Amino acid sequence: MKRNFIACFLLLTSLAAGAKQQGETSMTLPDGNGSSREPVELNRNKRQPLPYKDATLPVETRVEDLLSRMTLYEKIAQLNQYTLGNNDNVNNIDEVVDKIPSETGSLIYFGDNASLRNAMQKKAVEETRLGIPILFGFDVIHGFRTVYPIPLAIGASWNPGLAGEACRVAAMEAWHAGIDWTFSPMVDIARDARWGRIAEGYGEDPYLTSVFGAASVKAYQGDDLSEPGNIAACLKHYVGYGASEAGRDYVPTEISRQTLWDTYLPPFEAGIKAGAATVMSSFNNISGIPGSANHYTMTEVLKEKWNHDGFVVADWNAVVQLISQGMAKDGKEAAMYAINAGLDMDMVDNLYMQHLEALLNEGKVSMERVDDAVRRILKLKFELGLFENPYTEEKPESEWVLLPESLETARNLAEESMVLLKNDGDVLPLEKDCKVALIGPMARNQKDLLGSWFGRGRAEDVTSIYDGLNEVMETSVAYAPGCDFDGSDTSGFAEAVRVASESDVVVLCLGEKRNWSGENASRSTIALPGIQEDLLMTLKETGKPIVVVLSNGRSLDLTRISPAADAVLETWQPGVMGGPAVASVLTGGTNPSGRLTVTFPYTTGQIPVYYNHRESGRRGSQGLYQDIPSTPMYEFGYGLSYTDYEYGQVTVSADSFTVNDRITASVTVRNAGDMDGKETVQWYICDPYSSLTRPVKELKHFEKRLLKAGEEYTFTFEIDPMRDLSFVNGEGERFIEPGDFYIMVKDQKVRITLTE
Ligand code: GLC
Repeated sequence: MKRNFIACFLLLTSLAAGAKQQGETSMTLPDGNGSSREPVELNRNKRQPLPYKDATLPVETRVEDLLSRMTLYEKIAQLNQYTLGNNDNVNNIDEVVDKIPSETGSLIYFGDNASLRNAMQKKAVEETRLGIPILFGFDVIHGFRTVYPIPLAIGASWNPGLAGEACRVAAMEAWHAGIDWTFSPMVDIARDARWGRIAEGYGEDPYLTSVFGAASVKAYQGDDLSEPGNIAACLKHYVGYGASEAGRDYVPTEISRQTLWDTYLPPFEAGIKAGAATVMSSFNNISGIPGSANHYTMTEVLKEKWNHDGFVVADWNAVVQLISQGMAKDGKEAAMYAINAGLDMDMVDNLYMQHLEALLNEGKVSMERVDDAVRRILKLKFELGLFENPYTEEKPESEWVLLPESLETARNLAEESMVLLKNDGDVLPLEKDCKVALIGPMARNQKDLLGSWFGRGRAEDVTSIYDGLNEVMETSVAYAPGCDFDGSDTSGFAEAVRVASESDVVVLCLGEKRNWSGENASRSTIALPGIQEDLLMTLKETGKPIVVVLSNGRSLDLTRISPAADAVLETWQPGVMGGPAVASVLTGGTNPSGRLTVTFPYTTGQIPVYYNHRESGRRGSQGLYQDIPSTPMYEFGYGLSYTDYEYGQVTVSADSFTVNDRITASVTVRNAGDMDGKETVQWYICDPYSSLTRPVKELKHFEKRLLKAGEEYTFTFEIDPMRDLSFVNGEGERFIEPGDFYIMVKDQKVRITLTE
C-alpha cells in the first residue's frame, strides 16, 4: 500500500512539475491537448537507467524515448532560446531575461567563464522533471578571447588549414567558458562593401567561401562533438543576406532562383556536407519571402534536398520581424509561418513559447512539426554529450586563455592574411635601422584592431602596431597621432609633419573603427573619412616615402590614397597579434602572401563590382562609365610579394575528354627572388558558351605553398568534369554541356574540350 502511495505521489508531482509554469514565460498551462496527460512510465527498475539516460543506446533511440516522455510545455520550451548574462551585443541590446525557465532549450551565453553557465545548467538538469540540459550558444566568430583576424582577412590568407587551426583555438577557449555551440561560420557571399557585414564572411567567391566554411565547421566540431574542446557549428545567415540592397542591413534582397543556386547556396551546401550541426535563418526578405519563413530554402532545399538532420535557429528576433516585414499580422501568425517553414528554434522573441500551444490547438501547426523540431534539438544535445557531462569544469583562465600557442596561431593567420597592394620602388620591406615616423589614428590603437564580433576579446589583449614595430626596429619609432578617425580637426597635422620631416620613412596607419563594419554598420561611401586622406596629402608634401597601413573591415575606395602612397598594406582587422604581424610584414620578417577575396572598386559608384560576373553584350567597348574607369582598382585574387614568382606554361594531360575522364592541369612556379615566400596558385575555369550563361571565370581550385628562394614546384589541378565544369539551374539541378572550356591561371588561358 505504502509503495503504491509513494508511486502515485511521484506520478502526480512529476505531472504537476512537467506542467508547472516556469519563470516568467507567458505560456499558459497545457490544457490537456498536449502530452501532459499522457501516462509517464515510472522507472520500475532503478538499476537500469531510463533509455534516454542510457549512453549505451543509439542517439535516435534516446531521442525517441525522451520525446515520448515530454509534456507539451517541455517540448515547446526546447524550441526557445533566451539570453543569459550581460548582453553586450552592440546590435541586439535587449533586456536581460531575468526569470529563465529551467526547461528552456538554449541560452545565448554572455559569460567569460563557465560559472554562471553551470549554475543555470544545474537548475535545468537537477531541478526539472526530465533534466534536459540547456544548449549554450555564442558568437565565436573569429576567436573567443584570443581574437584572430576578421573572417574577411582569414579568407585573404587563402590558407584554410591555418583558418582551421584558429577555429580549434576558438573552440577550445569557448568550450572552457561553457559554450557548446558557436553561431559561426558566417558564409554569406558579399559583393557590396557598403554592407558592414562583408567583414564577417570570406568574400565574394562561392568556391573559396565554401572551402573556408567547410574547414571551419570541421575544426569547430572535430570528429566527435562529445569530445572536450569541440563545439557545434552554425552556418549563417541562411540565405542571401549579403545581397542586401544598397548595402543597408536588414533590408530586402532581390535574388533570382538562378543566382540563389549559383552564388548564395553553394557555401551552405558545402557546410552541410562538412557536417554542420545547425543553420541560422537570415533576416533578409528573399524576393518576397523572408529567410526566416521561407519553406523553400529551409525545408525543401536544406532538409529535403540536402537531408540536413540538424536544426535551424532564427536570427535574433527574426520571427517577430516577420510582422514589420509585412508577412505576419501579429506574433502568433509570425510563429506559425516560421515553424511551418522549418524554423526549429526561436531566438529571444519568445513567440514560440507564447503561441505554439494555441496554434497546435487550432490545427495551424501540427504536432509532427513540433516533434520534428524537438527531435533535431535533442539530437544535438545527445551528440554533444550534455546528458552525460552537463557541466564544464571550471579551470583557471591561465590554463586556457591567450596561451602562447594560441597567440602564435593568431599571429600566423594575421601575417598570412595581409595583402600588399602597392610597393613602388620596393620601399618595403623597411631596414630595421631606418628612422620610422609612425603616424595616424590606428598607430597606437588597440581595440579597433579586434574588428567587429570580437567575442570576449579585450582591447588590453591587443598589441598595437606601435608596440609591435618597436619590438623589431633597431631605432625607436617616432609617433604622432596626426588626426582622429573622422571629423575636421587638423590641429595634429603640424606635429605629424614635424615627426615625418625628421624620419627616413613615414608609416601612416589609417582605417576604420571596429563598429564601422559588422552588423547594422552600413556606410554610404567606402572611402575613408576625408581627414585621414588629407593627412596623407599633407604628409606627402614632406617628400618622405610613405607606407600606408590600412586596418578596416571592408574593401575601400583608395582613389586618393593609393596614388599618393609609395606602398599600401591592407591588414584588415588583424586581432590581438595585429601589431607584431604588421611589424613582421613591414620589416620583411614575413613575406606578404595575402590575396584579395573581395574586389576593391575604383569608387563606391562602381558597386556592385566582382570578378565572377557574366559578360556584357558590348564587351568592354560600350556600357562603360563616362567619368571613371570601369575596371576595379584591385581585383579579386590580387596581392604583391617581396619576391617574384615565375610561372611556366600551363599544360594539360589531355585537351579533349569525356565527362567520365579526369584530366590534370599543371603549372611550374619558381621563386625567382632572394626571399622565401608563400604563393597561391589560383585555378579558374571559363565556360565561354553554354545554354545558361556562365561568369567570365570561376575559381575552382587553389593551392598555397611555401617556395624557398630559387625553389620551383609544379602545382596541379585534377579536373573532375562533373564537379568543375558543370553548373546548376534555378531548381538546383546540375548540368554539364559538351564544348570548349578554358583553364585560366594568371594571364594564361588553355582550351580543353569536353566531347559528348
Ligand atoms: C545577431 C546576428 C547573428 C548573431 C545573432 C546572435 O543579430 O545577426 O549573426 O549570431 O544575432 O547574436
